[in-house]
Amino acid sequence: MKAVRVLEYGGQLVFDEAPAPMIAGDEILVKIKSTAVNYLDLVKASGKARQILPIDLPWIPGHEFSGIVEQIGSDVAAWAPGDAVFGANETGGAYAEYLVVKAAVVAGKPSNLSFEEAASVPVAAQTAWQGIFTHGHLEKGQTILIHGGAGAVGAYAVQLASHAGATVIATASCDDEAYLNSIGASRVIDYREAQFEKVLREKVDVVFDLIGGDTQKRSFLVLKEGGHLVAATQPVSQEETARHRVSGAMMRLAPSGDGLGRIARLLEEGTIRPDVATVYPLQDAAQAWKDLAGNLSPSGAGAVRRRSHGKIVLRVAL
Ligand SMILES: NC(=O)c1ccc[n+]([C@@H]2O[C@H](COP(=O)([O-])OP(=O)(O)OC[C@H]3O[C@@H](n4cnc5c(N)ncnc54)[C@H](OP(=O)(O)O)[C@@H]3O)[C@@H](O)[C@H]2O)c1
Repeated sequence: MKAVRVLEYGGQLVFDEAPAPMIAGDEILVKIKSTAVNYLDLVKASGKARQILPIDLPWIPGHEFSGIVEQIGSDVAAWAPGDAVFGANETGGAYAEYLVVKAAVVAGKPSNLSFEEAASVPVAAQTAWQGIFTHGHLEKGQTILIHGGAGAVGAYAVQLASHAGATVIATASCDDEAYLNSIGASRVIDYREAQFEKVLREKVDVVFDLIGGDTQKRSFLVLKEGGHLVAATQPVSQEETARHRVSGAMMRLAPSGDGLGRIARLLEEGTIRPDVATVYPLQDAAQAWKDLAGNLSPSGAGAVRRRSHGKIVLRVAL
């Protein structure tokens, strides 16, 4: 099959022939329609985090996808060949014509989304859901502060928290204020102009930190006692959580077909919506990575984008 691969750490992306994958009993073979670019792909390929994020070389990047089920394993009852699905996995492999995944991590593609839109959803939306509800325990009537609210994960967090009946405050660039208000933020604090801990009058129940660094350190000052700090980019100091009498931990996305199915229903009823910035053909994956890397700045512990919001998608039409 055709695929984009990383042959060595730090090497170029190579578009060529790769062996087609084989399925086990609990897996399905998906003919990929689209995949999306995540910063995680670049980090893994660089080898800089190989101790905690190892890959087997040659490696096919791509942690999220949409496509059509081509074949099912002997233990799979939930899917049949021809079903349109979308999903995420922890190992990559979606920059290719075919991907093998556990049947349990996919959900039916929302019928109102294109394959490009569907491929942009699973990583960001599931990270947002798990961050604010599973780890942040956000409830109706509470207040959440979302750092990086206009980013891919942040925009889903804003929409999901607002839909759940929480008051949503986001930090972002001032250019994104109208966008964030339109998707449910009641207040936007421009991180370039104001220190959020100085302008917030009341403390919040949950902070969802998609930035890290100094932003995370200052977040302890705005949390109510008993509140939750959920970080997506770096571990949380347990000394600080004890000192401020809050809970805090770094989350790691755990892909789940059931969870993604709930998100699919919200997409289908129009409660939340995806945001695709650019679509490239798979062959141009290297250019897509250059675009993403060019937009990144080490503002916190994680890499963060500087320009317009929305995900970069790769169309796999071979
Ligand atoms: N732990 C996990 O399982 C997991 C899963 C998914 C993602 N992540 C991580 O989560 C982070 C966010 O991902 P993403 O895909 O949402 O990133 P993204 O799309 O690049 O968005 C980052 C956003 O942060 C904004 N920003 C930059 N500096 C800021 C600051 N100091 N305060 C507030 N906002 C700031 C950027 O705005 P401007 O463009 O205007 O600067 C941009 O809108 C990344 O580090 C990613 O690797 C972790």
